[in-house]
Amino acid sequence: MNMLTLALAKGRTADDSIKLLEKVGIHFDDFSDQSRKLVFYDAAGLIKLIFVKAVDVPTYVENGAADLGIVGKDNIMEARKDIYEILDLQLGQCQFAVAGFNGEEPPKNNVLTVASKYPAVAKSHFQKKGVPIETIKLNGSVELAPIIGLADVIVDIVESGNTIRENGLTILEEMDAVSTRLIVNKASFTTKSESVHAFINTLQTGLE
Ligand code: PRP
Repeated sequence: MNMLTLALAKGRTADDSIKLLEKVGIHFDDFSDQSRKLVFYDAAGLIKLIFVKAVDVPTYVENGAADLGIVGKDNIMEARKDIYEILDLQLGQCQFAVAGFNGEEPPKNNVLTVASKYPAVAKSHFQKKGVPIETIKLNGSVELAPIIGLADVIVDIVESGNTIRENGLTILEEMDAVSTRLIVNKASFTTKSESVHAFINTLQTGLE
C-alpha cells in the first residue's frame, strides 16, 4: 500500500471531516485545528494529512501534491480543476444562492453587478440565463456589497440564512446544493489504485 497525501480544507467543516475519518478508524493523534502545525500522520502510517485553505485544496489535488482532497463543492465548482469528484461526504450542507434586496429595479444599463467569493460560479449561472453581468471578487463579508452599493446582488453560500437575514437581504434565487466532497488526483487514481480504492471504500462505510 502507498502512503496517500490527503489535503483537508481548513474552516467550518474541518472538525466534522476529522470526526468522519476517526469514525472509520483513521486516527490523527496530534490533530488540532487550533495548532499551527500543517502536516499530520495517521496512527497506521497510511495517510499524510496536509491542512490547507479550502480554496487551495483543488489546486493541490490537480497538481498531484495531494492524492486526495476533502473540500466543499463550492470551492470545487469555483476552481474548475481537472480532478475526480468521488464521494459526497454529506457534511457542511448549504446552498448557493443569489441574494439582494427584494423588489429592486433592474440596473439602468442592464448589466447586473454581482459581488461574490465565487465569480466563476456567478458568471456561469447568469450566462446560462442569458443575463449579462459584471463580477466583483470579494474574499468575505460579501453581504455588505448590496448594502453599501458596491453591487446589485451577491452570489454566496447560505447555510442557516442568518447572515442574509441579519443584513436585511433576501434570497432572490436558489442555486446548486453544496456539501463536502472527496476529490482524487487523476493520476493517483490509477497509479495508486489499491490504496486510493481502499481509502474510498473505508470512507464510504462511514456514510452508510
Ligand atoms: C459564509 C458565507 C455567508 C455565511 C452563510 O461566510 O459566505 O456569509 O457563511 O452562513 P449562514 O447562512 O449560516 O449565515 P463565512 O462565515 O465563511 O465568512 P466570510 O464572510 O468571512 O467569508
